[in-house]
Amino acid sequence: MSDTIKEIQRRRTFAIISHPDAGKTTLTEKLLLYGGAIQMAGSVKGKATARHAVSDWMELEKQRGISITSSVMQFEYEDFCINILDTPGHQDFSEDTYRTLMAADSAVMVIDAAKGIEPQTRKLFRICAMRNIPIFTFINKLDREARSPYELMEELETEFGIGTYPMNWPIGCGRDFKGVYDRTKREILAFTEFHRGQNRIEPIECALEDTEKLDSLIGEKLRKPLTDDIELLDGAGYDFDIEAVRQGKLSPVFFGSALNNFGVEPFLESFLHMTMPPLPRASGDDIIDPFDPRFSAFVFKIQANMNKAHRDRIAFMRICSGKFQRDREYYHVQAGKTLRLAQPQQLMADDRSIIDEAYAGDIIGVFDPGIFSIGDTICEKGMDVEFAGIPTFAPEHFAAVERLDTMKRKQFEKGIEQIAQEGAIQIFHEPGVVMEEIIVGVVGVLQLEVLEYRLKTEYGVDIRRRDLPFEEIRWMKDQSIDPRDLNLTSDTKWVQDFKGNNLLLFTADWCVRWAQQKNEGLELKEFDQN
Ligand code: G4P
Repeated sequence: MSDTIKEIQRRRTFAIISHPDAGKTTLTEKLLLYGGAIQMAGSVKGKATARHAVSDWMELEKQRGISITSSVMQFEYEDFCINILDTPGHQDFSEDTYRTLMAADSAVMVIDAAKGIEPQTRKLFRICAMRNIPIFTFINKLDREARSPYELMEELETEFGIGTYPMNWPIGCGRDFKGVYDRTKREILAFTEFHRGQNRIEPIECALEDTEKLDSLIGEKLRKPLTDDIELLDGAGYDFDIEAVRQGKLSPVFFGSALNNFGVEPFLESFLHMTMPPLPRASGDDIIDPFDPRFSAFVFKIQANMNKAHRDRIAFMRICSGKFQRDREYYHVQAGKTLRLAQPQQLMADDRSIIDEAYAGDIIGVFDPGIFSIGDTICEKGMDVEFAGIPTFAPEHFAAVERLDTMKRKQFEKGIEQIAQEGAIQIFHEPGVVMEEIIVGVVGVLQLEVLEYRLKTEYGVDIRRRDLPFEEIRWMKDQSIDPRDLNLTSDTKWVQDFKGNNLLLFTADWCVRWAQQKNEGLELKEFDQN
């Protein structure tokens, strides 16, 4: 086996998705800890101060104490080389969060055991489901009062339309949390005072039939329900089907407590063995084999002004096949030009280092003098590949913006267009209305502040921003329908994107349903595949 194939074979690239506060950061830290990638938990991104060390690229980030960009963390564990894609949450939730998912081969969904599915989990899940990537569920915070595991799994199944397979089963919760029962190994992983905070927890082998030992570990009170539950699960639950897992139809579920580092390593172990090396990607009607030794990659994110002194942009690419070498020239398909990728780097939490080579599954950031767009393909010359573009996701917040200084029309338009081209905002206009205002749509509300800030600092333009009450946007599938002929609620607005596509803006979910019910055959799409 060639070295390149060996390297690709051991890559695992995944995103961790969750609603804020479910424990994504804590779980990521513990995973990095196992890989020896960080010395001490707390260095991924502490809630306030520590984050500044990670990225102080933009003044705004410093002011708000938040991280606008998502980063990639690479670490080694056993023989695996793992790439974790961080999906920004909190206020910095943006379209980038969705795009990052395009670079992942699987996703780990962290759920707070007391809360179950929350809005952000729902949104992120939908994007993963669209790509049919495997989704692993980590139900966190079992050391606190939690909802019944049956109820949580049923919620996942009914809301997401997937099967669930509990890999382990919690024994009590909150103060009574005694550990989990590992269904594969058929043993108890006990959670005792002694184990709290330890890096590695030794499982205690104990068969369900060994009542005496079981009682000494978890108490008689919890033994009975545990044995009943396991009997029920073995008899009535889904069968474990690795193919269904790999097609995203069955989600393996793990219970644990990231904060106590409980259940994290067994989770990592089974996760790594169930997931696949980099998945093949579509290029037109062809499928690009990740093990093809020739390098190919696509740009999934562009980050502007990471270094204010240089006004640079970094294009993040996901390598889809082969090996990247720093000193070689590659072909930029959309521009039709050969180029050398400048300053290729890998990002690890607070560290950026120039790299000489990277493999399918890896993410690299390269200096972008303004030539790349999101979705672009870079590959070895003569390879004839063009990866499918990244969809434009529906924005969720809208504002009308206009410049304050009438003299600065050019700067205003240039700024808005460039920022839109990077994918930080989407721009729309109202057909037939000659107005100075531009309608801006964003996935995360913070992007509007970023826009205002960047127009001022980079383009010298002050704007007036009027937030609009729309919450939903839909692309009309059949562009030949005249939106003026539709029966819509009076507050629905017809707009066009820069390609001239017709879209509708709605103030509420029920207005979308109204449009669909009152207009037979009207098909509305939540994202636009360009
Ligand atoms: P996020 O990245 O998904 O937003 O969540 P994060 O890991 O920051 O965790 C949110 C809060 O939940 C943190 O507490 C964290 O310590 C806590 N937490 C995470 N996992 C567990 C768990 O297994 N059990 C319990 N009991 N708590 C957990 P915080 O007080 O908001 O922040 P911090 O001061 O601890 O950083």
